Amino acid sequence: MKLLLLISLCCFAELNGGEVKKIAVLICEKFERVPTHVDNHELILPFEQHDLQYEEVIWDDPSIDLSQYAAVLVRATWDYIDKREQFLERIRQISSISIPLFNSLETLEWNSKKNYLLDLEKRGVPIIPTRILLKKRDSHVENTIQEMPSKEYIIKPAVSGGAHRTFRTNVDGIQQLYDANYTEEEEVLIQPFIPEIVSEGEWFLIFFEGSFSHAVLSKPAANDFRVQRMHGGTVSSITPSQEILKAARKVLECIPGGIPLYARVDFVRQGDRFLLMELELIEPCLFIKFDFPGAAERFSKVIYNRLTTYPKLFRLVGD
Ligand SMILES: Nc1ncnc2c1ncn2[C@@H]1O[C@H](COP(=O)(O)OP(=O)(O)OP(=O)(O)O)[C@@H](O)[C@H]1O
Ligand SMILES: [Mg+2]
Repeated sequence: MKLLLLISLCCFAELNGGEVKKIAVLICEKFERVPTHVDNHELILPFEQHDLQYEEVIWDDPSIDLSQYAAVLVRATWDYIDKREQFLERIRQISSISIPLFNSLETLEWNSKKNYLLDLEKRGVPIIPTRILLKKRDSHVENTIQEMPSKEYIIKPAVSGGAHRTFRTNVDGIQQLYDANYTEEEEVLIQPFIPEIVSEGEWFLIFFEGSFSHAVLSKPAANDFRVQRMHGGTVSSITPSQEILKAARKVLECIPGGIPLYARVDFVRQGDRFLLMELELIEPCLFIKFDFPGAAERFSKVIYNRLTTYPKLFRLVGD
């Protein structure tokens, strides 16, 4: 009986979709200069097919009134890493005017600093061993690296993207890098360098509404350890094993704010374990072009569902 009610409510809600909904796709000023922007443009047509209108909006342009949109989709806000407080302020403001925001405010806030890795570790997710230092409090790295012995280390900011200010070093060079590259107010991650990033690469698994969509393996250029395309990294599409899918699903279950509309789970393999490098819930490249048109379709469909079927369904059940 309950199932029947649910099905008829879904059909009712589907029939009541129809009008075109304008979606503010948040980007940043740098957007046009970054090659991965084409990824987002793959969404334009599938959006139209789902009665969604794709409209790019610069996230920190104060002249834009976002209340005219049916939803706000964070996509290419890459420069938030230089002005995180301002970004958080903006998304809180969007959320306060009750416009659907994807991903949710709670999820975006939590994901905007790599400290979330330690939360996930507490919940049983295997991560790369990570220590977080605050420069003005922890002026020396010596104790940290003694606790975490390794031949080489990675040092990187807690708020970052595109491997910005991310360095590979041996024990001798680490203190100097730490002193020279981060501000007193900054939190900095120290991790052992995982050599499989070079010998095998980094696995990116993309999920829409918790369902697996597609995956790529990204490899760094010769003599580099950074897999990002801007540093010469190359990607190939892959079919993930059940094992890595299981590891990624475990990560998704631990996200505050519930299952996100879009997610990229980044792993590096060590032995028989997949260690979480990052969980990207703000502005990851989704490699939509690698699986076009299926991936863009799936992404558009989950947005459409959130804006039509589900809200109406919840409203009706709640009445
Ligand atoms: N512990 C590590 N061992 C080996 N390589 C690492 C490690 N940490 C980072 N890297 C390399 O540096 C890159 C950037 O690190 P990370 O993904 O954590 O930060 P990011 O700057 O947020 O990058 P992006 O958001 O573009 O993926 C990784 O994709 C990987 O190539
Ligand atoms: Mg990364």
